[in-house]
Amino acid sequence: MEKNHNNEYKVCVTGGAGFIASWLVNKLLQKGYTVHATLRNLDDDSKVGVLKSLQGAEARLVLFKADIYFPEEYENAIKSCQYVFYVATPLFHTEGPDYKYKNTSEATVDAAKSIARFCERSETVKRLIYTASVVAASPLKDDGSGYKDLMDETCWSPFNISVPDITDFHKA
Ligand SMILES: NC(=O)c1ccc[n+]([C@@H]2O[C@H](COP(=O)([O-])OP(=O)(O)OC[C@H]3O[C@@H](n4cnc5c(N)ncnc54)[C@H](OP(=O)(O)O)[C@@H]3O)[C@@H](O)[C@H]2O)c1
Repeated sequence: MEKNHNNEYKVCVTGGAGFIASWLVNKLLQKGYTVHATLRNLDDDSKVGVLKSLQGAEARLVLFKADIYFPEEYENAIKSCQYVFYVATPLFHTEGPDYKYKNTSEATVDAAKSIARFCERSETVKRLIYTASVVAASPLKDDGSGYKDLMDETCWSPFNISVPDITDFHKA
């Protein structure tokens, strides 16, 4: 990864206290990166405490509050970063007068679009990495008649084909 003009790397990791994300934060800190990690609740000591205990966290870990259901909250965390990992994912749907999405898929996709827009607007982000479910990608042909010869970034699971055990959560 390339350094910025201050000769440092800044990487944003969304949902920083999650299973994959916390290992990623740990690895990035070990390698000397400055990490902007997001969590929904900065008062949750069980999660914040783990992240703050990581080696290098005191000097190079900055925590931001952000929730996929309020995607505008990600912009501050993304600003000035060169790389963004979109790892946060809502396992359960949240409803209420303040929540505008019908389900987790809708919220996740909208947040992905917002995060991509913030990356572009930052003028610093060089790459956005999105760890969705592996079920989102498939070499299946659009008409379900078989498999494509090659698997690349154009291969997404077709929505029009019913595949048993694939829920909206997996598709998101
Ligand atoms: N684990 C695997 O083996 C695996 C394999 C393939 C793909 N993946 C994909 O990798 C991603 C991460 O997986 P994981 O296993 O690390 O998940 P995880 O441990 O459940 O972590 C997900 C994180 O998402 C955050 N989150 C939940 N709802 C949110 C919301 N409404 N807004 C913002 N953040 C929210 C939570 O953060 P807070 O509660 O702290 O805010 C949580 O720490 C997922 O997309 C998953 O599908 C995982």
